[in-house]
Amino acid sequence: MKTQSTDVLVIGSGLAGLMTAELLSTDKNVMIFTKGKLEDSNSYLAQGGIASTIHSEDRWYDHFIDTLQAGCFHNNQDATERLVKNGPPMIRILEHLGVEFDRNEDGTYQFGNEGAHHRARILHINGDSTGKHLIHTIKQRIMQKNLVVEGETAVQLIMKDHKCLGVWTVNAAGEMTATYAPTVILATGGMSGIYPVNSNATTITGDGIALAYEAGAALSDLEFVQFHPTLLDIEGLKAGLVTEAVRGAGGKLIDQNGLQLMKHEHPLMDLAPRDIVSRVLYRSRQQGKKTFLDIRHISDFKEKFPTVTELCKRNHVHLEKELIPVAPGAHFTMGGIDVDVHGRTTIPNLYAVGEVANTGVHGANRLASNSLLEGIVFAREIACTVLTDQNRSNHPTHIPWKGACVLKSAPAFEEIQQVMDQYVGIERNGIGLTKAVQWFQNHLDQQEFKENPSLQEIQSRHAILVGSLIATSALARTESRGSHYRTDYADSKIKWQQKRVKRRKGIYEQ
Ligand code: SIN
Repeated sequence: MKTQSTDVLVIGSGLAGLMTAELLSTDKNVMIFTKGKLEDSNSYLAQGGIASTIHSEDRWYDHFIDTLQAGCFHNNQDATERLVKNGPPMIRILEHLGVEFDRNEDGTYQFGNEGAHHRARILHINGDSTGKHLIHTIKQRIMQKNLVVEGETAVQLIMKDHKCLGVWTVNAAGEMTATYAPTVILATGGMSGIYPVNSNATTITGDGIALAYEAGAALSDLEFVQFHPTLLDIEGLKAGLVTEAVRGAGGKLIDQNGLQLMKHEHPLMDLAPRDIVSRVLYRSRQQGKKTFLDIRHISDFKEKFPTVTELCKRNHVHLEKELIPVAPGAHFTMGGIDVDVHGRTTIPNLYAVGEVANTGVHGANRLASNSLLEGIVFAREIACTVLTDQNRSNHPTHIPWKGACVLKSAPAFEEIQQVMDQYVGIERNGIGLTKAVQWFQNHLDQQEFKENPSLQEIQSRHAILVGSLIATSALARTESRGSHYRTDYADSKIKWQQKRVKRRKGIYEQ
């Protein structure tokens, strides 16, 4: 087995991982491992933009309150304050690195609006291509300085005495590598890919959450899975995202009879928080209705939304004459690996940043365009912490590889997605969740160690583990809050306010 070492090892190549690498790379040797290509991330697909209080009349406190209201006050308020206050300086840092946000002819920023924001504060690039441009800009810098290794999948964290020393990875040719580093940063994204209809890159299937859990890190809030209301609906298959910024520009959700679906549902109507809009669409569809986004009255749609226009064209949706067929789909993981405000997990030397981490800033339902913001703000927190900690040196020990745990008979990935959809979807209940928990457990009861696991075996086991963690968490939370809606416990309960369902190997906390 190949063995190597570096100062900082980043696993994942979305905005949070690349930004952390960029900020550390002047002082440290940084390596970035990514499962697919560098561009295979949810950040790259992000359309809407970055929420931040850049407008002179906007205030951090208003952004803070919008974030808490969307999150149903389940948020960690200290972390949320840090998130919104550090937005504007991080936007300046991005601009310093070469990022150019869209501006009006007079040079002022163009601010977009999205659900649950009480004012337009979303910065974007080339209309709805924000993530792609952000990643390209940072990639150009990273490629000059850092070693990016594509096609390298993390199999297991290297642990000794409850400390993280590095990671074992496998490449597409099945070759294993042990990489040692005094700082290991998980930036692998969330897990929405384990649902059949989702907005995520195909690589996003919960690897980081599974790796951290296996190593003994604390996880929390996994029952909170955000479903985005408007994924392009082409025969119920995964087709792509139609950004919420379209509704921010006046798009309306209607059914096949032209009835406005959100009119009597929430004071913010089409711009209500995502969990509420998704449930309205879900219920309409359960009643056999078709759901559409009406954009006919939006001027210059193609110029404002080139990514959505291209997506529709690819899928033979003719914007000139048709409505856009939309349906909700899995989009974002609010919970994840427990971290403090500096990105430290409960395992020494192991950090987590971006969607894989649970900083607590999103509560029970993330506010639109706060995810890229989270990525850059907490990238800086981790970079500062790593740079100020002088006691980091490579660990001399080499730990022998004993093999990875794999399932004896793995179900097809589509089967895992079906179980998630059927029992752990937008609406859940105790009976369905119990079935899901049992189904996952049956697979987890049949495992074996394998010296040379295949990529597919690793991915299946990670997905089963994460599915099981989500289902057990959802079963434990006997209330509804934000994105976690239980038909058998339809109300929010005071006793659950601010209470986190925790998962830690060997310890089961609620
Ligand atoms: C969108 O553009 O609708 C997605 C942005 C986000 O997830 O915040």
